[in-house]
Amino acid sequence: MTAEHIRKEFLDFFKKKKHEIVVSASLIPADPTALFTSAGMQQFIPYLSGDVEPPYQRACSVQKCFRTSDIDEVGDEFHHTYFEMLGNWSFGDYFKKEAIAWSLELLIDVYNLPKDRLWVTVFIGEKGIAKDKEAIEIWQKNGLIKERIKEFGMKANFWGPVGSTGPCGPCSEIHYDQGKKFQKKDCTINNCGPNCGCGRFVEIWNLVFMQYDKTGENQYEKLPANNVDTGAGLERLTSIIQGKTSNYETDLFLTLIEKIKSLSDAKEAEKNIKTVRIIADHIRGACFLIADGVLTAKEDRGYVLRRIIRRAMRYARILNASPELLVSLAGTVVDHYKNIYPELDQQRNDILTVIQKEEERFRKTLNEGLKKFKKLVRLTIDKKDKELDSKMVFQLYDTYGFPLELTKEMAEEENLKVDEQAFEKEFARHREISRAGVKKKFGGVGEWKEKVAAQHSATHLMHQALREVLGEHVQQAGSDLTPERLRFDFTHPDKLTEQEVKKVETIVNRQIKNELSVTVKEMPYEEAIAAGALAFFKEKYPKVVKMYSMGDYSREVCAGPHVKNTREIINFKIIKEQASGAGVRRIKAVVGK
Ligand code: SER
Repeated sequence: MTAEHIRKEFLDFFKKKKHEIVVSASLIPADPTALFTSAGMQQFIPYLSGDVEPPYQRACSVQKCFRTSDIDEVGDEFHHTYFEMLGNWSFGDYFKKEAIAWSLELLIDVYNLPKDRLWVTVFIGEKGIAKDKEAIEIWQKNGLIKERIKEFGMKANFWGPVGSTGPCGPCSEIHYDQGKKFQKKDCTINNCGPNCGCGRFVEIWNLVFMQYDKTGENQYEKLPANNVDTGAGLERLTSIIQGKTSNYETDLFLTLIEKIKSLSDAKEAEKNIKTVRIIADHIRGACFLIADGVLTAKEDRGYVLRRIIRRAMRYARILNASPELLVSLAGTVVDHYKNIYPELDQQRNDILTVIQKEEERFRKTLNEGLKKFKKLVRLTIDKKDKELDSKMVFQLYDTYGFPLELTKEMAEEENLKVDEQAFEKEFARHREISRAGVKKKFGGVGEWKEKVAAQHSATHLMHQALREVLGEHVQQAGSDLTPERLRFDFTHPDKLTEQEVKKVETIVNRQIKNELSVTVKEMPYEEAIAAGALAFFKEKYPKVVKMYSMGDYSREVCAGPHVKNTREIINFKIIKEQASGAGVRRIKAVVGK
């Protein structure tokens, strides 16, 4: 069964079970506090938390996901940065009984996996939350023998929340037993089984029973309704269904891997299969990120993109690959996926250009940088030191464009270390920013939250101020937040005059000084509009929406998050006003001290 077939069968199966097929959300999540979309459930969080009434009770999707957490594992049999997640959801509708029965029906009857190869894990009970006896019973009723149902704690069998609070719950994972020959010799567990880590068992599907709302450290409250959130990695499932030993051997990767081999030194490619796989993974991830609007940059999402392109370049060099390798591979990725993800074809030019430009930029310094690195290694070893000099590591970053993680990885290959804190200090010294600022730059997701909420609230104030100054024709055309700045696109035919920019800035700062309290109310969409709330992209809103008010000044339909009071924004400053397409202007602004 091809991967394309597997995707289709999944959606068809759940459609028959009365699920709404929802298209994949962008890799740039609507929630501005998250770095990337990393799970299928992300676009459904407001429904799962009960904050917004869902427009349907059941949903299924194939979601594009990007995770940086597994980047060091990429190149083994089953890990990726970019991957697709198959998922089905119940928003207060069906629960464990159906979720379990349907997962088995699909795996066994549709995908033809042998039942006796399936093992499951369930939540053992921890931190005041009871053992999931119900799930154990249901698995048994569905024919899973007791010996193949294993119990684990929070770490393995409790999922979420995505941030520090929010919907979460016990989960059951389905693992596939690849057979004894996959058991590594050094597997120390007598009874090898799921999660023993020896490689014999592969997790293929996670069924999360979302019953709780985490409200604080060790505090869990019952959610208003029981939800189901499931996720199965397409690449892994395909590997198992196609009887392969690695995701990279499936039809999702075949052409890409062959192409890398054909454009590299054959001997090197044979010797360095992990390197070949890393290049395949990273180029695929880069293409999908660019298609969703990420550009290479010094920070945040753009930094992650830069990191994977540059890492792929270093590995391509190990394989003595031809210089056009990455751009040529990008074309292969677009062709392979364009029928499923048309955005790749639509953005083909951008994808190829961004990759080519990034290559040109890094190629200039890569060789010199590698020489510098070798010298640094020699110096460190000669000094009998274990750690690279952090000033030199910073120089590699600043002058030679080596992402810190790349230097770290190369150091590890030499059994040496990089002192990250010393690097951060060095970075801060050169940029005259705090070390916390450095951490933020490189995408610590948790640290986005506060800053982004302030920017988000400032965006609402500015939106209203623009309408006041320029006229009611001003409409939001796009918005993007990073910890460093807010960006807002809006409809307006002319360049703003200096006075207009000043006026908008003054109005926003006045509303910050007015210390308006920010309140949120849920109501039907029509009611919010009648109350004068700004709302766009009408068709995307669910029936019941959140309306955010800032005093009497601004009202907008929005999913949040926002500050509690406008004084938390502290200060607002417009740093740029420019064109962004025909009849659309773009403002970049900063908030805070
Ligand atoms: N949210 C769960 C996961 O990411 C199931 O979809 O594994």
